[in-house]
Amino acid sequence: MNTLYVMDPLASLNLAGDSTYMLMQESTRRGASVAWCTPSDLYAREGAVPWARCQPVVTRPVEAGAFDTGAWGERPLTDFDVIWMRKDPPFDMTYIFTTYLLEMATTASGGRTRVYNHPQGLRSRNEKLFALQFAGLTPPTLVSHEIARIVAFAEALPGKVVLKPWDGNGGRGVLVSHKDDSNLRSMIELLTGEGKHYILAQRHLPEIVDGDKRILLVNGEPVGAMLRVPGPKDHRGNMHVGATVHGCAITEREQTICAAISGMLKAEGQLFVGIDVIGGYLTEINVTSPTGIQEINRLQGVQVERQIWDAIEALA
Ligand SMILES: Nc1ncnc2c1ncn2[C@@H]1O[C@H](COP(=O)(O)OP(=O)(O)O)[C@@H](O)[C@H]1O
Ligand SMILES: [Mg+2]
Repeated sequence: MNTLYVMDPLASLNLAGDSTYMLMQESTRRGASVAWCTPSDLYAREGAVPWARCQPVVTRPVEAGAFDTGAWGERPLTDFDVIWMRKDPPFDMTYIFTTYLLEMATTASGGRTRVYNHPQGLRSRNEKLFALQFAGLTPPTLVSHEIARIVAFAEALPGKVVLKPWDGNGGRGVLVSHKDDSNLRSMIELLTGEGKHYILAQRHLPEIVDGDKRILLVNGEPVGAMLRVPGPKDHRGNMHVGATVHGCAITEREQTICAAISGMLKAEGQLFVGIDVIGGYLTEINVTSPTGIQEINRLQGVQVERQIWDAIEALA
């Protein structure tokens, strides 16, 4: 099997926590050829055939240098059986255009080249909005750019309100406020850029003190979970702002959430997905380069990357 990883530069990977590195290791372990490139190495020519300037790579144990790389070359994407789109956000027009080029690989190969997660879902399933269609499973949420409407939503809530950019990740710009906060309106003005940009206003879930749960799903089935518990000085359950990681079980309520979204994930080729759940409420369905494999492997004694590659082989 020939595999290509479209990703951030190899040299920038944090090997002790990176999920893409685990997927590459497992490809190598299974005897597949592995190559990598960044989105900016993609182009199309000869009609609708996408190509990549890419570098072959063989993973080694981290102590042994982690990688052996070969000579850069030019290959049509139709050479590959499986292409992983693992570029981290920003979710911008370059990201969207990359999904178009990747989709051409499947078309140009007559369906033989598979891209994960499916480019169409990467493009159309906004991680925060995707969750909202599952009524009853998500917290009350308003999506708007109108300052007065957002203020009114916050005022109608019994407790606190969370304000967040529609395209954020890693907790960037996520604020907590409440109806009697004299900063509320000013925060909304800042986040919306004076009413120009959409944001999400959401009921604050006090259960966040117990953690923001990340559940990994492979082809729609939950395979492991971890809790990210906010530190004492930041309300956010994101690891790079100091949240600590703990083992946890998947509750019955969370099984219900997974079952509710499973069919759609399978049907849409969203093979490796990370959902976020706070207090039993679904807040995000992460399809663009979800992380957590290494932490969940360590906490639960599983090998999520093997389950992912088993699923890919079973779907072949
Ligand atoms: N409804 C909510 N109730 C309580 N805390 C929340 C809520 N939504 C987000 N947060 C806090 O903000 C953090 C980041 O929010 P999230 O929606 O996951 O955005 P991001 O994509 O930036 O991680 C969460 O880990 C949590 O600490
Ligand atoms: Mg999050």
